[in-house]
Amino acid sequence: MNSAFSLKRLFQLFAASSKLRIAVIGDLMLDTYITGSSSRLSQEAPVPVLHVRERSIRLGGAANVVRNLLALSPSAKISAFGVVGADEPGQKLKSLLENANADVCGIVVDPGRPTIEKQRVIANGQQVVRMDFENTAPIPEKTRLRLMDKLSSMLKDNLLDAVIVEDYAKGLIGQEMLDHITSSARKYGVFTSLDPNPRNPVRSKGFSLMTPNRSEAFALAGIYCSDPVENVAEDNALRSVADNILSQWAPDHLLITLGPQGMALFSADAPVPFVIPTVAREVFDVSGAGDTVISAYTLYHAAGATDQEAAVISNQAAGIVVAKSGTATTDTAELTKSFAEAGCR
Ligand SMILES: Nc1ncnc2c1ncn2[C@@H]1O[C@H](COP(=O)(O)OP(=O)(O)OP(=O)(O)O)[C@@H](O)[C@H]1O
Ligand SMILES: [Mg+2]
Repeated sequence: MNSAFSLKRLFQLFAASSKLRIAVIGDLMLDTYITGSSSRLSQEAPVPVLHVRERSIRLGGAANVVRNLLALSPSAKISAFGVVGADEPGQKLKSLLENANADVCGIVVDPGRPTIEKQRVIANGQQVVRMDFENTAPIPEKTRLRLMDKLSSMLKDNLLDAVIVEDYAKGLIGQEMLDHITSSARKYGVFTSLDPNPRNPVRSKGFSLMTPNRSEAFALAGIYCSDPVENVAEDNALRSVADNILSQWAPDHLLITLGPQGMALFSADAPVPFVIPTVAREVFDVSGAGDTVISAYTLYHAAGATDQEAAVISNQAAGIVVAKSGTATTDTAELTKSFAEAGCR
């Protein structure tokens, strides 16, 4: 499949993706790293004393999907939708997004909850503790309506080509919100993708795409997670899980990401999945690869790629980011190089 993919086709899709408008709605997070050195224990408690040398912040959660989309297509219009608190992390999150060139008009400030922040403390290169600031109670109805108002008017005014929903089960995504998004996006012919979280007891029919990883897919289907089978097409448990999700959620396509096994694309009308092995030659850090997958698939599908083409590109993009350290992104130059190395001409 990869070598059948021409670079000309790839460039066509890159060009079309530069004009796209995509909304990302989900749990926006701020990742904070406090780094330093430690050479002694505290007298107050048996804990290391950290001499702080650096503080750094990064976009996390749904905001990392925004970052991935903008890395792939810097001139696309990417709008972030979500909730932050009336606090300093919320301001930082917004300004990081603005610096990345994202549209932040869809971010609602709710003074009743903190901005979701994950603060890591790293001593001598090793993470010592992570502190999570969050309130995972469902967001108040008033906040949800404010968010939905903005998203609905963008859909109605034909200002969006796709909507990505990133659910980290932090209280933002609920049943009414999902139903609202799928029904109005269908009405206006807008592509919708969902990275679902099985901890959230919701179910909504009619997404264009869902992208759970293997264990999330088993949890969504309520089936005990068995070991992967070497030949993905013969993984009968995975097939049952896919059939269950296809019937309960009725997405047009279901892309189950399989870590080192790559990914499998299922749809109700295809008797066998389209299986794509990973292209990663070296693996350094797999965190955030799922964000890259949903970003690339949605972007290139909205740019005119078929589902199989969008899956292949997203798998190639994931193969690039897992070879980098931290929650990484990739761009069109790296994608071109990677496809060329895979034999595409
Ligand atoms: N260990 C690995 N070796 C090779 N490729 C990998 C590995 N892990 C991930 N990948 C690539 O990244 C894609 C997405 O990975 P994975 O299935 O782990 O998603 P995920 O669990 O949603 O990731 P995350 O939630 O951390 O972002 C896979 O489809 C594959 O292409
Ligand atoms: Mg994931």
